Amino acid sequence: MDIKPLPEKLLLHGGTILDPKAQRSFTGDVLIIDGKIAEIGSVGSNTDSTKIDCSGLIITAGFCDLHVHFREPGREDKETLASGSRAALAGGFTRVCVMPNTSPPIDTPEMVGNIIDKAADLPVHIHPIGAVTQQQKGFELTEMGGLLETGAVAFSDDGLPISNGSVMRMALEYAGMFDVPVINHAEDLTLRNDGLMNEGRVSTQLGLPGNPALSEITMVHRDLELAVLTGSKLHVPHVSTAGAADLIRRLKAKSQNITAEVTPHHLFFNDEALKSFDTNLKVAPPLRSETDRQGLIQAVLDGVFDCIATDHAPHTIEEKEGTFDLAPFGMIGLESCFGAVNRVLVREAGLSLEKLVQLLTVQPRRIMGFDDDLLQVGKKAELTIFDPDLKYTFQVSDIHSKSANSPYVGHQLIGKARITINKGIIAKNH
Ligand code: DOR
Repeated sequence: MDIKPLPEKLLLHGGTILDPKAQRSFTGDVLIIDGKIAEIGSVGSNTDSTKIDCSGLIITAGFCDLHVHFREPGREDKETLASGSRAALAGGFTRVCVMPNTSPPIDTPEMVGNIIDKAADLPVHIHPIGAVTQQQKGFELTEMGGLLETGAVAFSDDGLPISNGSVMRMALEYAGMFDVPVINHAEDLTLRNDGLMNEGRVSTQLGLPGNPALSEITMVHRDLELAVLTGSKLHVPHVSTAGAADLIRRLKAKSQNITAEVTPHHLFFNDEALKSFDTNLKVAPPLRSETDRQGLIQAVLDGVFDCIATDHAPHTIEEKEGTFDLAPFGMIGLESCFGAVNRVLVREAGLSLEKLVQLLTVQPRRIMGFDDDLLQVGKKAELTIFDPDLKYTFQVSDIHSKSANSPYVGHQLIGKARITINKGIIAKNH
């Protein structure tokens, strides 16, 4: 990937401009001057600007991922804010929210401030999510008001659930005063037990301990009822079961403050894939049955999910090379995201491309209260230009993360970000 400062005048010529906010698309040009959108429409090609031919490409708002793990501070060998930014740009993402399960966790205003300072000059907008509980231990709430004042945008102990129902209720009540979401990693640890993969026929065949769908369903149900009770914003991350998706569908009718995300990997893979014993497929919550996968796809089609989030979780080769029981949970996902969800949702399941782009752009921004109206004259250019038709086999060379724990290597994906424009830079994929 090639990252350069934006030329003073840049003309994106003859692309399909897809405005996910206005919900319209048309053929046209975008002129960018001094990093800002100067004109949208028919600019023509006879200007003195640097010109990029965008025929066959879609020009849209930059993708936004509200669930990534960049490992800084503490595990910079896996990912840093800088290396994570490169992975994001390669995937077409201009804005991400980083989870606080670093070492130490992001649980004080100083830690939040530190992330904001370090990210200031990076080419991707990085928003820290603050921990819900001190040290992510699940008991005492962090200084939530202070974290927000320093720039946290939401709260989560992701990687670990908030097991204690009273603590979750208090977190929702307190976050509700500030109108920001609480994001709870919903797995009942007493039901999950030592589960390494989805509990079912395949776990029995492989002889691996199973994590039942119920470990997610019961905790999602608790959280949804608490959200209804408190009226506060709950965002349900990485939903893996059709059962939890059904509950979200039902309880959304009782509260407008419930939102939910689905990951590319829970839509792309099912537990049969684990027959390869590829530890890159070991993830929490686990890849579920084909019935669950189909249920998640249907839930996307029904509008149950508000956004797609990658849960980009880098781990070292050394750790992932261990045996299945010892390898850590998680896979990277920024670079492969668009090609995976475009293939599954648009090409195979018939979702419109416009709807998919909304799930990657305006809808995650609304959950976090970010500006969602990017395709406007005068706005700083924060754009993604992608090829919706490119069929390719995902390769190690597509990875820009410091880690390479991707199970997509060798799989056919459809669609790829070609150019990402953000914070005065232009990143081009080869
Ligand atoms: O598989 C996962 N890995 N799920 C999570 O929720 C956390 C993540 C990590 O931090 O590695």
